[in-house]
Amino acid sequence: MIFDSHVHLNDKKIYDNLDKYIKEAVDAGVSKFLCVGYDIESSKLAIDIANKYHCVYAAIGMHPTELKDLNIDYIAEIEKMINNPKVVAIGEIGLDYYWDNVDRSIQKEYFAKFIKLAYKYKLPISLHVRDALEDTLNILRENKEYLTKGVMHCYSGPKEMIKDFVDLGMYISLGGPVTFLNAKKVHEVAKSVNIDKLLVETDVPYLAPHPLRGKMNEPKFIVYTVNQIALLRNETKEYIESKTYQNALDLLGIKDEKED
Ligand code: NI
Repeated sequence: MIFDSHVHLNDKKIYDNLDKYIKEAVDAGVSKFLCVGYDIESSKLAIDIANKYHCVYAAIGMHPTELKDLNIDYIAEIEKMINNPKVVAIGEIGLDYYWDNVDRSIQKEYFAKFIKLAYKYKLPISLHVRDALEDTLNILRENKEYLTKGVMHCYSGPKEMIKDFVDLGMYISLGGPVTFLNAKKVHEVAKSVNIDKLLVETDVPYLAPHPLRGKMNEPKFIVYTVNQIALLRNETKEYIESKTYQNALDLLGIKDEKED
């Protein structure tokens, strides 16, 4: 039983063959998916997919690099879609200083506004953070009274900062990079994060795990990530699966029914 806590089933490369990709993942042991939006259209599509597949839930939000049109109120647009029972999180939202195509002050302003939107609807947040750990921490702390629970999607920071984020209610999610042979920093994170705060994800179609690195990632490849985490922590893969599955249910407020 695996919960893929961050997957873009709404990406065209996957969506065009959605039945196949979902079936293959289910056959590989995945029983639930959080399909994550990254702009208005992909958020709508995430909801459509979640409405069609019992095992899929939706996160809606704006990736920081997509906050490009100053004439659009992205908070209002996302809020319009929020009242759907399959919407269980706001995301992905956050800060991205790597691409640097959207002014940092706009990214920060929206990040804080999305935190407040999530608070208003009592939804957890899914965070995309690239080259912006310190500012992310600062904004989370400044908005502490509005913080719901959340997840650091594909966490790539140092193990020393895990506690800072966990203390603010964040879970730590690991994906394909934990399988990369030279990813020492992520290996250390996988070993040291509290098992009750750990999630697994694919970020499909990005970040395919070793030995498929460089190929398009597929939902079924999550088993490589689970196996690697089990190896690093000296646990069975069944243990990692069941713990991370339960953590995802807790974070997203999903009750597990056995009818899947
Ligand atoms: Ni993503």
